[in-house]
Amino acid sequence: MAEISNKLELTVSTESVSKTNTDLLAFGCFAADKPLDISKYSSELNNKLFTAWQDKQFSGKDKESVTFDAPQEFAAKKIIFIGLGKEKEFEIDKLRSFAAKAIKAAKSFKYGSAAVIAQFSKINDTEAIYALLEGGFLAGYEFKGLHKPEKEETKKTFKNFTVVTDQKKDLSGLIKKANSVMSSVNLARDLVNLPANIVTPSYFEKTAKKLFGANKKVKLSVLGFAEAKKLGMGGFCAVAQGTEEPAKMIILEYYGGGKETYGLIGKGLTFDSGGISIKPSSGMMEMKTDMSGGATVLAAFSALVELGAKKNIIAVIPATENLPSGRAYKPGDVITMLNGTTVEINSTDAEGRMILADALTYAQRLGAKKIIDFATLTGACLIALGQVRTGLMTNAQGFADEFLAATKRSGEKFWQLPMDEEYLELLKSSVADTLNNSESRYAGTVSGGKFLEKFIEEGNKWLHCDIAGTAYLSKPQRYIDKHATGVAIRTLVEYFS
Ligand code: BES
Ligand code: ZN
Ligand code: ZN
Repeated sequence: MAEISNKLELTVSTESVSKTNTDLLAFGCFAADKPLDISKYSSELNNKLFTAWQDKQFSGKDKESVTFDAPQEFAAKKIIFIGLGKEKEFEIDKLRSFAAKAIKAAKSFKYGSAAVIAQFSKINDTEAIYALLEGGFLAGYEFKGLHKPEKEETKKTFKNFTVVTDQKKDLSGLIKKANSVMSSVNLARDLVNLPANIVTPSYFEKTAKKLFGANKKVKLSVLGFAEAKKLGMGGFCAVAQGTEEPAKMIILEYYGGGKETYGLIGKGLTFDSGGISIKPSSGMMEMKTDMSGGATVLAAFSALVELGAKKNIIAVIPATENLPSGRAYKPGDVITMLNGTTVEINSTDAEGRMILADALTYAQRLGAKKIIDFATLTGACLIALGQVRTGLMTNAQGFADEFLAATKRSGEKFWQLPMDEEYLELLKSSVADTLNNSESRYAGTVSGGKFLEKFIEEGNKWLHCDIAGTAYLSKPQRYIDKHATGVAIRTLVEYFS
């Protein structure tokens, strides 16, 4: 298939600012009474900036910017000055936004490249350079869509993002990390943006084989429907029995060292129609994104392996469609799960937890003791947190705190929800051990979490991340364009490194 998103090249340049080979060159400016002195690069540009400052056209405030044609001394075509806000209020995330603004400006001129300068006191250490690279690759991603070839060719694509620095340290590790994480995030974004007739469970399997088939450090196994049935994966098979599309339980094992064995579980529901409890047709199209958790896990696992993480990680991605048919599971059915728990089906649309529960059990059987799952589990999470924060639930506060510390480094936003045992009332069934979802609409996200918690074995630590609101944006947010975000991959890399 043709490239479905642009190939972006990341570079770090220690060349002189004026010689930087790029279309658009961006300076970051803190809000101040006086402009930055850039006379060492060009007195002409220095004067222009000074005038803009005097005219109050630009004074380094957040969201402000001013653009000039580049004077002759520069290799670039345009120079943009972008406000970083008050230096006192500086935080690393502003650099991701700074890089993104430079790219947005370059794209508005239909340029293929942009560079940002990191040569000021606050923005010169390696953490800052990495944040600029992250902002660059997040904002630089373009989903081309699936058009006739001739249409594609006329589209200008963004190709190169450079960070210019006078940093003398060896940055090769940093650049390698940025490239690995970028390709993983882009892979996840592609998988989520692509439609469900392309990204089937078999496509997931093929992608996993392409990534790890020849990698001796990774053990890849895939269970089909019959094998899953034989093992007793009643939850996974109940959902999968309604579709003609072959279901796949994808298992990846990587033993990089350390005492702990981690489990990463991702909901790989490649299309969620709701099943017999069918969804209304408006907005159903978006349910091609219901495999976002699986995409996050596959992509994060790939980055971690590539970066040689010194951790033992088992990833399990249950992948299937949820469709109504003559064979589909029905409301009222009682399903026996892999761990023996019986579940009364209240809604076939609460299918994510059915496939995840068996994946959780399976990962624990393989030895996972610290487990994180990612799932577009509940629309209620969108009601509670919108598209800004991922809902986080846990049975182990210390584990959640470690993870939340990593989100501070990645800049990804999470919000912890409660897990009081009173919420279990919502899942009481009179005919089985539990309902698959509550009859009441109260606390929909938490009851999803409480359901999954029933499948965590005594002593194991677990985090549940409901990414229903954050995996796919209807409007751009910070440095990420609308549609697939590749949520949580950067946080996982920070957590494991
Ligand atoms: N895949 C959906 C959740 C979802 C909604 C993801 C919106 C992304 C955006 C999930 O399987 C589902 O259908 N959940 C139901 C609740 C369930 C308890 C019946 C819902 O959100 O209505
Ligand atoms: Zn559903
Ligand atoms: Zn779903």
